[in-house]
Amino acid sequence: MTGVDGVDLRVDLGSLTLEHPLVDASGTFDLLENARRFRGDYFAAFPYAAYVPKTVTSGPREGNPPPRVTETACGMINAIGLENPGVEAFVSSLPALRPLRQPVIVSVGGNAPEDFAAVVRHLEEALDSSPGPPHVAGYELNVSCPNVRGGLSIGVDPGATAAVTTAVRALTSRLVLVKLTPNVTDVRPVARAAVQAGADGLSLVNTLRGMVLDPATLRPFLGNRTGGLCGPAIKPVALRMVAEVAEELPGVPLVGMGGVTSGRDALEFIACGATAVAVGAANFSGLEAPRRILEELRRECAARGFARVGDARGLALARAG
Ligand SMILES: Cc1cc2nc3c(=O)[nH]c(=O)nc-3n(C[C@H](O)[C@H](O)[C@H](O)COP(=O)(O)O)c2cc1C
Repeated sequence: MTGVDGVDLRVDLGSLTLEHPLVDASGTFDLLENARRFRGDYFAAFPYAAYVPKTVTSGPREGNPPPRVTETACGMINAIGLENPGVEAFVSSLPALRPLRQPVIVSVGGNAPEDFAAVVRHLEEALDSSPGPPHVAGYELNVSCPNVRGGLSIGVDPGATAAVTTAVRALTSRLVLVKLTPNVTDVRPVARAAVQAGADGLSLVNTLRGMVLDPATLRPFLGNRTGGLCGPAIKPVALRMVAEVAEELPGVPLVGMGGVTSGRDALEFIACGATAVAVGAANFSGLEAPRRILEELRRECAARGFARVGDARGLALARAG
């Protein structure tokens, strides 16, 4: 997508060319729900370059007891617990996405390699037997949900992350991204293990484990006691981790996220080495947020004299001097 001001916003995420760098962060943007509420053709107005739906697991999940979301001083905390209808229901909802021009990247969750494999196998079979739109371009393996039992046991362990990646890689030639957790001392060994096991790229970060108290009772507010912190509070942590992985694994496409609320935030992730940038909590501030962030990104690039958004990539990295 080249704008009136001449900035080329297209990026290549591995084999997938995106018309601009912005995608939605899994679990924060319900396209079908938005389309129902929108007056007009929401598919034509869909602002992101790819659609990443909420994480899908092999069977349906009810999620955690309420309350499941609340605001914090500089972000929000959630403990949804991967509520989703399961892969069968997800597959039957795919025809509703047919009008979507943009590719879909399916977020997949589970507690073991077999769970991830079951979801991807089901999808691959469904996509083979019913080719055509929507264009499912790949998978994002959510090995990093802090809000389900065992949800982090994979993402903190390089061996377990490699096992999940290997199991999925064997089943698909579509793009495979692995979504990493910030809840580790050093994310690089996990990142390396995922890539060595066949991941085409990495997404980071998922939410940071946190806790919020009910001021009246001084008891944990969330039904799950703990939750995942996101929003502006986590941006510096996320930028640091994206930069670390970009320096460790140059050339591996990264989807950076954590607290993006403006075009400048998005550009900062790109300067730290991200190819694409996901917007999460900011989606809850209003339907116009992604379009505004994209316009701001375009203007930021133009004002800095970048002909292509990719010209900013890696400027913050140590090797960039
Ligand atoms: C309400 C909510 C639900 C989420 N659900 C998922 C999910 O299903 N799968 C996933 O990989 N990440 C999930 N996330 C994490 C986001 O995709 C993202 O990694 C995180 O929120 C950081 O980005 P942000 O600061 O822009 O929100 C969720 C976040 C929120 C706020």
